[in-house]
Amino acid sequence: MTQKTAVVTGGLGAIGSAIVDALVLAGHRVVALDHPSAEVRAAEWLAMRPGCAAFFADLADNETSSKTMQTIGSQIGPVDVLVNAAGITRDARFVKMSAEQWRQVLSSNLDSVFNATHPVFAGMCARGFGRIVNIASVNGQKGQFGQANYSAAKAGMHGFTMALAQEGAAQGVTVNTVSPGYIATPMTAAIKPEALAKVNAQIPLGRMGRPDEIARVVVFLVAPESAYLTGTNIPVNGGLYMSH
Ligand code: CAA
Repeated sequence: MTQKTAVVTGGLGAIGSAIVDALVLAGHRVVALDHPSAEVRAAEWLAMRPGCAAFFADLADNETSSKTMQTIGSQIGPVDVLVNAAGITRDARFVKMSAEQWRQVLSSNLDSVFNATHPVFAGMCARGFGRIVNIASVNGQKGQFGQANYSAAKAGMHGFTMALAQEGAAQGVTVNTVSPGYIATPMTAAIKPEALAKVNAQIPLGRMGRPDEIARVVVFLVAPESAYLTGTNIPVNGGLYMSH
């Protein structure tokens, strides 16, 4: 297999780290890109992942993101694979949701996808190969009480996927979404126990998912052999939301 250079945004997070590890195992050169607030964990994270690199930038900011993606391109190599896994929650009932909570989630979860993808998309097209995977959420498909901001951003990610898939198709660039359900991570650990119990009761498989169960789907999507799969959304949610 030809080694590809992959960038994983939110790469130091729980799902992001699992994606990094799975891509390394599949033989790729992997760069994690995360928010500057994650930099305190970088040394420990990198010590467990020799061969990986970590960069830090606020992906909600277009200029910083562009510069960082360009630095990665020149220091590590042209980016063949981009996994957009950066994301945050600011849950609140809509009547209590502030404009700031709306803005933070939309900029960190959706603007970040534009900001990370725009600097690398043209290069992928010019080289005739690219894989973009957007990590959305079951709550972008079905909506979730308390997540008007997050559900909107995650649904927006798949709209982006479908549009960009059409623009990249002729140049060998595929764009797909993976929509995780409730995965055991610090993000879901922060949900109030009574709210989480309500969700858990609705999962046919009877348990939360694991980060590696998302990562294996990403590895599948980025393989050169997955060339005929584009513009799609793969739910990995234990049956919490079944769709066709
Ligand atoms: N359906 C209907 N009513 C609900 C509800 C639901 N699913 N969840 C909460 N409520 C109701 C409560 O029963 C309560 O009603 P009463 O006042 O009549 O008793 C009311 O909402 C409470 O709302 P409050 O505004 O007072 O706030 P709260 O402190 O209880 O918190 C909340 C509200 C933030 C929405 C909280 O319920 C919550 O965290 N819900 C879970 C949201 C969730 O699933 N987030 C996922 C985070 S992880 C993630 O996003 C990863 C991923 O991709 C899956």
